Amino acid sequence: MLAIRLTAEPERLDTLVLPVRPAADDAPAEPVPTGVTAPDGVADEATALIPVARFTGRAGDVHTQLRPGGTPQRLVLLGIGEADEAAWRTAGAALTRAVKNETHVTLALPEGVSAEAVRGLVEGLLLGSYRFRLGADADAPALTDVDLAVTDPEAYEQAVSVARTTARMTRLARDLTNMPSSVKNPQWFAEQVAEAVADLPGLTLRVREPEQLTAEGFGGILAVGGGSASGPRLVELDWHPSEARTHVVLVGKGITFDTGGISIKPVPAMKLMRKDMAGAAAVVAATLGAAALRLPVRVTTLAPLAENMVSGAAFRPGDIVRHYGGMTSETTNSDAEGRLVLADALAYAVQELKPDLLVDLATLTGANAVALGTRTGALYSDNDQLAEDLLAAIRAAGESAWRMPLPSDYVEHLGSDLADLHSAPTQGGGSVLAALYLREFTGELRDRWLHIDMSAPSWCERADAELTRGATGWGVRGLLRWLATLN
Ligand code: BES
Ligand code: MN
Ligand code: ZN
Repeated sequence: MLAIRLTAEPERLDTLVLPVRPAADDAPAEPVPTGVTAPDGVADEATALIPVARFTGRAGDVHTQLRPGGTPQRLVLLGIGEADEAAWRTAGAALTRAVKNETHVTLALPEGVSAEAVRGLVEGLLLGSYRFRLGADADAPALTDVDLAVTDPEAYEQAVSVARTTARMTRLARDLTNMPSSVKNPQWFAEQVAEAVADLPGLTLRVREPEQLTAEGFGGILAVGGGSASGPRLVELDWHPSEARTHVVLVGKGITFDTGGISIKPVPAMKLMRKDMAGAAAVVAATLGAAALRLPVRVTTLAPLAENMVSGAAFRPGDIVRHYGGMTSETTNSDAEGRLVLADALAYAVQELKPDLLVDLATLTGANAVALGTRTGALYSDNDQLAEDLLAAIRAAGESAWRMPLPSDYVEHLGSDLADLHSAPTQGGGSVLAALYLREFTGELRDRWLHIDMSAPSWCERADAELTRGATGWGVRGLLRWLATLN
């Protein structure tokens, strides 16, 4: 991860980055006055360069001017657009992509820049420079150090620290989600959580193995995990600060690979199913982040982990699963496996943990992308306040979600002749019906529950602003913002 420092007296001026804003109307863009005086003549040079380079100052535009023998040797114009948090996030990410061969840059921050802007910038720098690669990385970018030059560094220490933690946890979620499933089985995932917990004081971790899951009746997790050579796990991670007055339970779908099971997926649909634990990665990373930031709210995270495989031990379409607490599901399609493991975890949370609020994240249905495209999660809740609060936090964090309905006249489709519920009704509205199914397990917490189907935004095919190709770590930033508003 890039080392980012705040400094009032930049020591190295090999590469100097100057922020540029678009001007109103048709006037040329202009460099923003910075607190740190650039060497003589450099500011004027930047002003003169803007029209010559046709530099617009849009967030994410970067222009590099070489100055052989000069100080600095390289002058970089960085467009900061509207100069709000989101624009700075985009600019930070673009800068790390544009600077390929330099190990170090100094960025002069505008005089009086807001702490939010600096937060966005640091997140952009740390997320835009993310790479996942196993083995040698011949064209790894050289950049390792960014100095942020500003007259009053202390004013921004807090913002930089929060951004660093948020980015570190988002990167962890990306790492977990990008990891191939040959490595990432349920046990491996649980071990990664244990390693992260060892670095952070105040967290407790309990990992249930198959014997314990059997003893306590987690039938959904056991059914879905039954076909795999790598047994299922249930991770229970608790951040419990003494001053906490609110208790949130986060639940994340942790299917470490989804073949579809006996109802096997076709090749194109199976290709990326190592990402089917992105919900678990996001809630675990957000909880670690809450602990790292010492947020005054209790957060318990449940990650039901299983590999949905095809084998002689796999569960079958038509099997009836008995969930934690005794509710039963008729399983006509083994590819609707996520809701089966989530049902156990939700029921356990409601019956044993009795939190104030219950939130789950899951790569639950392909229908998420059908309804909302590739970047937006589908958010469901009967609680308007909870829905608004989470949507606001998600948007402020630079993520995207859209609230979807829970229509009561669809509930009848969940009926089964053989069990309490039908896990995969054939009616349309796949993401909505999955949400309605999950709601059946929320008991007394029905009005304090929120679900996000994040199949679509958990992954992206090409780099864009702070997103890099592959796992996005979607949800970590929004959840952390939201948790930071609770106590
Ligand atoms: N993991 C998939 C959903 C998914 C699809 C996530 C595409 C990311 C990208 C889930 O387990 C699944 O297979 N859902 C089925 C449900 C259906 C069988 C009711 C689906 O969406 O087709
Ligand atoms: Mn599936
Ligand atoms: Zn799945």
